[in-house]
This record gives sequence, structure tokens and C-alpha cells, in this order.
Amino acid sequence: RIAYVNGRYVPHSEASVHVEDRGFQFADGVYEVVAVYKGQLIDEKGHLDRLERSLSELQIAMPMARAALAQVLRRMVRVNLVRDGLVYFQVTRGVAPRDFPFPYAAMPTIVVTARSKAFPGRDVKPVTVITTPDQRWARRDIKTVGLLPAALAKQKARQAKAFEAWQVDADGYVTEGASSNAWIVTKDNVIVTRQADHNILRGITRMAILEFARENGFRFEERPFTVEEAQNAREAFVSSASTFVMPVWKIDNVAISNGEMGPVAKTLRDAYFDAME
Ligand code: PDD
Repeated sequence: RIAYVNGRYVPHSEASVHVEDRGFQFADGVYEVVAVYKGQLIDEKGHLDRLERSLSELQIAMPMARAALAQVLRRMVRVNLVRDGLVYFQVTRGVAPRDFPFPYAAMPTIVVTARSKAFPGRDVKPVTVITTPDQRWARRDIKTVGLLPAALAKQKARQAKAFEAWQVDADGYVTEGASSNAWIVTKDNVIVTRQADHNILRGITRMAILEFARENGFRFEERPFTVEEAQNAREAFVSSASTFVMPVWKIDNVAISNGEMGPVAKTLRDAYFDAME
């Protein structure tokens, strides 16, 4: 395997950054995960747009021109022989003696990795989710590498044999999953997902799904929903670059279906695959 580190393609086992990289000491950096399906980078434009936005919110410069970065992503897919898998890229503020304010002269660090991963197909078994208090910071719209609360929530999910941990805000409303956006379909067939403000990550998959919902004539609302509303919903699902549309059948041990994928999730998952193929 090959990794890309600051302009060089190096063996993955030898790829490293400096001990005083601000990503390592302060989580002062951002990242993206892009799916590769049949050799194609999925929603590449959306992910590059969001990377640029996350960086500008933190006043970190793009480490290279966007077109050059796109070339690196493509080359990483090629040299790692990825047909189906994930490309990970992260940009941090760079290396500087440890001090809280931004360094005056640091070059951003860029790292890209790619790995093969088989995705479940169109027909997928629904998963279970647990809920947990949202302990993350107030700018979840910035895709930072500060993922400790997400890691703790995911560990809790693993221990409960659940796929994802839905984050619940102080008012009892679901914000999103630890690494995915959260969706329900109400009993009167309205698709609901939380509005994209500072409280959630503006998922690239989420945006694609809203477009498919529009095209398929589904009604949808962008608003918060409670755990109780979700447990009484007709369907639920999560979305992300690594799961596309993943149906959910149990929320905190409350079954909302018999364990089969619901028709709305199926239509949207199919629409996503149709767009990728
Ligand atoms: N996570 N919300 C959070 C908190 C996320 O970390 C992610 C993505 C999403 C979905 O966004 P998108 O559709 O753009 O992937 C929502 C990635 C996959 C990860 O951290 O591995």
C-alpha cells in the first residue's frame, strides 16, 4: 500500500508526520472520506467543496490547488488498486513548536490514504442504533479530526452490538450519528432529517438523498426529531459516504420494523446505486 504525505508517495508502513504536527497536538485539522465505487470517486465535488469550507472556517490554506488534489486522489485510487473502497484525506495546520495560537509560518500538512473495502450491495440487512448524549463541540458543521466524542460513542455502540450511536442534544432531539446523518420516515410518509446548521455535519450523501427524495416525489422536512418520534416512525436510516443509505430497524432496543428494509430506504438506496453505476 501507498500513502501520500506532503507531496510524496511513500510506502504506507513508513508514512509519518512530525510529532509536533498540530493535528496530533490540538486536533487542528480537517478531513474527508470519499467512497470509491467501481473505480470512481463518488461525490468528489461535494467533498472537495466541503474540505475547502472546513479549511476556510479554521483559516487554514488549501495545501495545494484543488485540481492537483483531485489528481492525487485519483492516483491514490490507481496505485492502491482500489476498485471499491475509501479514500481518506486530511489537512492540518502543520508543524510548529507547541503553542495555542496559530503559528505565523506553518505549511499545512496533507495526508491521503486509500484502502479497499467491499460495500454491501443494494439489498442490505437493516442495522441497529443506540442513542447517547451529544458531547461534541458547537461547530459540528466543520469536519475536524477532533473525533474523541465520536470514538467514545462508537465504542459504546460496539459494546451494545449496535452499528451506530445517534447523538442526542440537551433538548432530547437527535442531531446525527457519530459518523453519519440520521433520518426517519413518519407514519404519514414524510422523510425527516435535521436541518443543516452548526449542529450537524452537512453530509454530502445527505444532500444527494434530499435530491433523490425530490426527484421521487417524496415529501420531506428538515427539522429536529426526538428519540421517541424516531421509535414511533415507519422507517429510519442513516447516510454517509461509507454506508450510502443504511436502513435501521431498532433504536435503543425498540424495534420499528420486522427487520426488513423499508420501501423509502430501498428507493433511496437504489437511487444512490443508480447514480453511482
Ligand atoms: N463520516 N455526520 C458525521 C458526524 C460524520 O462524521 C459523517 C461522515 C456524516 C456523513 O457525511 P457524508 O455523507 O459527507 O459522508 C455525518 C465519515 C464517513 C467518517 O468519519 O468516516
